[in-house]
Amino acid sequence: MKDGSTPPRRLTLAQAINVEDVRSIFARKVPTAVRDFIDGGGEDEVTVRRNRGAFEAIEFRNRPLTDASTRTLSTTLLGTPITAPLVLAPVGLASLAHPLGERAAAMAAASSGIVSTLSSSSCWSLEDVADAAPGAPKWFQLYVWRDRAISADVVARARAAGYTALVVTVDVPVGGRRERDLRNGFTIPPRPTWRHTGDVIRHLPWVARFAWDEMFGHGLTMGNFGGRTAVTQRLAFMDRVNSRFDPGMTWDDLEWLRSLWDGPMVIKGITNADAAREAVARGMDAVWVSNHGGRQLDGLPATIDVLPEIADAVDDRAEVYLDSGIRRGTDIVKALARGARVCMIGRPYVYGLAAGGQAGVEKVIELLVKELDTTLALLGCASVDRLDESWLRSAPARR
Ligand code: FNR
Repeated sequence: MKDGSTPPRRLTLAQAINVEDVRSIFARKVPTAVRDFIDGGGEDEVTVRRNRGAFEAIEFRNRPLTDASTRTLSTTLLGTPITAPLVLAPVGLASLAHPLGERAAAMAAASSGIVSTLSSSSCWSLEDVADAAPGAPKWFQLYVWRDRAISADVVARARAAGYTALVVTVDVPVGGRRERDLRNGFTIPPRPTWRHTGDVIRHLPWVARFAWDEMFGHGLTMGNFGGRTAVTQRLAFMDRVNSRFDPGMTWDDLEWLRSLWDGPMVIKGITNADAAREAVARGMDAVWVSNHGGRQLDGLPATIDVLPEIADAVDDRAEVYLDSGIRRGTDIVKALARGARVCMIGRPYVYGLAAGGQAGVEKVIELLVKELDTTLALLGCASVDRLDESWLRSAPARR
């Protein structure tokens, strides 16, 4: 992935043939501060780069002449059938990319037959998003509030609105230092300054649409942050996270949450075997291996590198998922071969949102699914269920 560069061509969504193409449309359409908020990572962004480098270092072992005429991509996720091993990860403030943000993403996931996860830091309320895709399987992601009564209330609302699994993210005790946001003076709600004048002029369509949406009360209302009212206090995103969520959360608090939620529960943000073992011992149904797309602790390993030891530690007692750096169907195949049941995407579908709302997200899902299908055919593997380490060559150490 190229980083921060101006795309060479003015592609349309219809012309996009891969996630990077959709990213170039996104980069053109949104103001710089929004692009940096979405694309950026913690401090030196070492983990962001490592996530890509680690996938690229893995090599395949194909099996020619084994009849690749039909491929099965469908699987199940906590018992729910899905058309492909792909899930939309929770992304806070997704409506920065498109006014319908989280609702459009939920609709795209539903029409594609996959699962979407709503962030605790969403702009639309969890009820609005549930109403956008009634009947479709949806997960809710929780950050635990300093005020436990608010967490308990949000969990009850998620249950009442029909979310089927609760995802507890544990890698944000505090907000990571995302230096691009600090330099851009990125706040919620956004505040244009004289420094941003050129950017505002270049992105008038975005600014106008955003202002229109604000007027009608949907823009950045951050519905799940406890209430359904607009954000009135302007704060840096990191400060907002730090003022609301509890850095003192422990494994015992996870068990408290477990007692509030009677459905399946997923722990998100695990990058080593010890934490995975503890999560299973505390009653988690799934372990979501994630370094938050490199946005939190810079210096964490690439998730694909730690996946095998985590899958071993979990040993089929819970499902194992992976995200952080998935940009190609080949990445999904590599993760499944190393023990993940499904992969999640964050930034790629936000690129789609900016490029074309629901249709843009559908396009990103479609591109990744096509790549996944082609990869299986080229490998000579008839089904995602058959993927294991035997389809990979141990990569030589050259990173
Ligand atoms: C995120 N992510 C995230 N995770 C979470 O549990 N709650 C959240 O509110 C957010 N918010 C958020 C905002 C933005 C802009 C991004 C890019 C990511 C992390 C997300 O769920 C996922 O772990 C990563 O995005 C996966 O990496 P890729 O696919 O973006 O490389």
